[in-house]
Amino acid sequence: MNKKLLIDLQNTPKHVAIIMDGNGRWAKGKGMNRIFGHRNALTAIRESVKAASQVNIEAVTLYAFSTENWNRPKLEVDALMSLLINSLKKELPDFMKNGVRINSIGAIENLPKKAQKVLTDVITETKNNKDIVLTFALSYGSREEIVNTIKNISKKVVNKQLNIEEINEKTINNHLYTFNLPDIDLMIRTSGEQRISNFLLWQMAYAELYFTNTLWPDFREEHFYDAIIDYQNRERRFGKTSEQITE
Ligand code: FPP
Repeated sequence: MNKKLLIDLQNTPKHVAIIMDGNGRWAKGKGMNRIFGHRNALTAIRESVKAASQVNIEAVTLYAFSTENWNRPKLEVDALMSLLINSLKKELPDFMKNGVRINSIGAIENLPKKAQKVLTDVITETKNNKDIVLTFALSYGSREEIVNTIKNISKKVVNKQLNIEEINEKTINNHLYTFNLPDIDLMIRTSGEQRISNFLLWQMAYAELYFTNTLWPDFREEHFYDAIIDYQNRERRFGKTSEQITE
């Protein structure tokens, strides 16, 4: 059965965040090294973005490399950076064809120069694409993002550009890496782990969380639709009562 048909296109999440977990275990299960798992993660990314586009989702954000991932063996870090560089280059024609705008969040200045250059080029090339925005979280940590936000807002207060009394949630939103993205409606994490792992803590305040045992390299369009169907069966109350929502 085509699972897409079960989806109410008027009620899809605007912004889906994905923690792509399980590459290492997937590879190990095949007697291969972890890098083999990362290489096989790309199909899952392609399928998820394609599926998201088909059900009118505006934004998908992928946790591609966390601040903590720098502590992995150098060989694995180097392989992930090469994979990033090569896949961004390789996928560019498809991004153009499918109206995908590329964006990034995180301490991009910590990436190798070559990765920064390719990323900036792809962001520039795709900047007028309108169908979906695909954000790569790279060298990203939510607590670090919040610390930076506080520093930047404080500087404005010290420079008298901003009055303390004027600071509200919008001020914070506007200073996060995600200033130009909607809040997260749905967070998907693969591989059975049920954690948020320092990903978009502020932005996920009211997100629905979806966990699946599927390992990321096995994740396909139909798995993505399963998550959306599950989301559509939830009642998002935002602190209100069920009666208030259904009225
Ligand atoms: C988690 O699996 C995955 C990562 C830490 C990296 C995510 C990277 C990709 C999906 C590859 C594509 C990358 C880019 C930058 C385009 P894990 O290694 O933690 O798996 P494990 O929990 O089974 O060990």
